[in-house]
Amino acid sequence: MSPLRNVLLAVAGFSLQAAAVNHVIVVGKDGLTFNPPDLKANLGDTLEFRFWAKNHSVVQGNWQEACQPNQNGFFSGFVPQTDLTKPNDQVFKVTLEDTDPKVYYCSQFNAANSVNHCKAGMVGVINGLGNRTFEVYKELAKDVTSPGNPSAAAPQGGSFEPLQVTAPTASSSSGGNGGGASASPTQTGSNTQQTTTGAGSGAGNVGVSFGALAAAGAFALALAF
Ligand SMILES: *[C@@H]1O[C@H](CO)[C@@H](O)[C@H](O)[C@H]1NC(C)=O
Ligand SMILES: *[C@@H]1O[C@H](CO)[C@@H](O)[C@H](O)[C@H]1NC(C)=O
Repeated sequence: MSPLRNVLLAVAGFSLQAAAVNHVIVVGKDGLTFNPPDLKANLGDTLEFRFWAKNHSVVQGNWQEACQPNQNGFFSGFVPQTDLTKPNDQVFKVTLEDTDPKVYYCSQFNAANSVNHCKAGMVGVINGLGNRTFEVYKELAKDVTSPGNPSAAAPQGGSFEPLQVTAPTASSSSGGNGGGASASPTQTGSNTQQTTTGAGSGAGNVGVSFGALAAAGAFALALAF
């Protein structure tokens, strides 16, 4: 393999890797929920579970029996969080090694106090497909009298990392606002417009550099093969 080809493959690999997305899933902030409960993710993307109030777990389930574990799946164990104003300072992170439909639930259960988070609908789905969906699983969970935990010790299939809350970066929505503001001549000269335009052009720059990176990767792939 020529040195040039090695360099081009490295560039292509870098830009493919840069496309991996970290999906934040908020656990128990708005009652017994995972938010979002249903999302699409690609190979290599990460799921980042942020634990809020109470004492929740994340257990990968199976599609045959609601609220019962996939013994080889991911499992966070229980993460109590007493400060109601913020998430736990440790997050549970899982890297997706395939894009098969996956389901998970909270296994918190106390029969004496009628606590059963999975039965109450605290379930979530990744890459739902066919009848393996959030809606179907949530319905099946309603009939479950006692949820299960994997027999292996937690954590498995993922790891705990310190919570890193980054400032909101230029997103498609701020780019959209910027675009909207500059398209509207009536706001020209106002403070609001100046601020928004700044955010808009920032988002534009990010878009351009990602685009350039992707183009470089595609170009390198085209040359390499
Ligand atoms: C969290 O819940 C688990 C499972 O019910 C329990 O074993 C554990 O003691 C709880 N932890 C706290 C701090 O309440
Ligand atoms: C989902 O569909 C498959 C066949 O496509 C079937 O075997 C399975 O029983 C269905 N599951 C549910 C919960 O309906």
